[in-house]
Amino acid sequence: MEHRALSRLAAPAVAALLALTTGCTGDTVQGRPGASGLRDPYFPRAGNGGYQVDHYALDLDYDPADGQLHGTAVITARAEQGLSSFNLDFSGLSVEAVTVQGAAARYNRTGNELTVRPAEDLKKGEVFRTEVDYSGKPKPLADPDGSKEGWITTGDGAVAVGEPVGSMTWFPGNHHPSDKAAYDITLTVPRGYEAVSNGELRSRTEDGDGRTVFAWHSPEPMASYLATAVIGPYKVTTGRTPSGVGLYSAVAPGEAAASTGPLARLPEMVEWGSGRFGPYPFASAGAIVLPAGTLGYALETQGRPVFPGAPTSQELVVHELAHQWFGNSVSPKSWKDMWLNEGFATYAEWLWAEDHDGPTAQEHFEAFLAGDTDVDAEADSDWDAFPPAAPPGPEEISAQPVYYRGAMVLHRIRQEVGDATFFALVRGWAADHRHGNASTADFTAYAEEKTGHDLKKVWDVWLYGKDRPE
Ligand code: ARG
Ligand code: ZN
Repeated sequence: MEHRALSRLAAPAVAALLALTTGCTGDTVQGRPGASGLRDPYFPRAGNGGYQVDHYALDLDYDPADGQLHGTAVITARAEQGLSSFNLDFSGLSVEAVTVQGAAARYNRTGNELTVRPAEDLKKGEVFRTEVDYSGKPKPLADPDGSKEGWITTGDGAVAVGEPVGSMTWFPGNHHPSDKAAYDITLTVPRGYEAVSNGELRSRTEDGDGRTVFAWHSPEPMASYLATAVIGPYKVTTGRTPSGVGLYSAVAPGEAAASTGPLARLPEMVEWGSGRFGPYPFASAGAIVLPAGTLGYALETQGRPVFPGAPTSQELVVHELAHQWFGNSVSPKSWKDMWLNEGFATYAEWLWAEDHDGPTAQEHFEAFLAGDTDVDAEADSDWDAFPPAAPPGPEEISAQPVYYRGAMVLHRIRQEVGDATFFALVRGWAADHRHGNASTADFTAYAEEKTGHDLKKVWDVWLYGKDRPE
């Protein structure tokens, strides 16, 4: 029967059909190894080639008393080529077992690369499920600029922060912002502790063994550097913004001032941001206030930024909130595009001030040109040291020019095109790249197309120019 059906096809078609069913096509056979890095200009080994992740299911069991983490990561991905092996980025911790499509897989580790060799090659287009069981005492990493990231203990708990590559210290994955995925993060902790992550809390249950299980769900795509897990004796508050965005915040003991300080205005800020930038991109918002001194910086972890102690300025809260549109929803294609995160988030601070009886963005812009620290304490910083679209190295991707000169690029556009066109551009950018990725080249092309202005001079002088703009 089958034979008769085949005999009606021409010989080349038969060959093609056989090739399809056996997974090999004459000369190009089987899979080949996926690349061990995505050649990011600053972090060439971050991320991996040959597949894109759709979903991470992370099941993490953590005991603050001994710092031991037991994890299971189930990664659902789609092969973009035939794969004989593929890599995950993973740092420290011990791998206990790896399966692909339910079958035991061979694996080996070198540096921060976990290479997985499935029992059977994966076909191009195939959706496959990898499970990694692991355990150990996770450790933080030092950033190229000397700050700390990754899994950080906080006395009676822990926090995970991942910008740019710290997430590989607590789960294996495709750790580059160009591969965004949905997440379900389930945290099991001793009873009495809170456990907070991104997205919405689906359930909170007692496991009958003295532990509490928190199941967090993030359906919107998330870059892995924005994933977080925070465990400790936090005080949780929930609510809703006037327009109905869910709020879930956690405050470390001793940081109660968070409830009366600038963070108290978060609901109002979410509404303000939605007016300025377009609809808030996620189902919920909130904040996590860590014990003071845990970190040297705040981070815009998706939906729910972390602050090292109760924030003392409205601008900082607005900054991390603005990243939800710029960085988290519209994510950089590579770490070279950081100014698209930080320039926008800084400009959002200037806009908040402008809309709330503070200095105008024009006054901020002029203060930086004049080094006037009365308007902005950073005005006499090294904001002009390099062009924001071309940091000299990985240790500079979070340096001042990326923030301040990045914001000044946006203000220069506003000066060229006028307010109405500028705010349409900002909203259009957030809408048209919502939940996606974009590069600096995407932005410059978009800005010219959307505004109808030739902005070459702004790019040459402010974005790419080496000299201090006048
Ligand atoms: N993206 C964070 C913020 O602007 C700052 C991260 C700082 N990280 C670092 N390695 N310097 O809110
Ligand atoms: Zn920022």
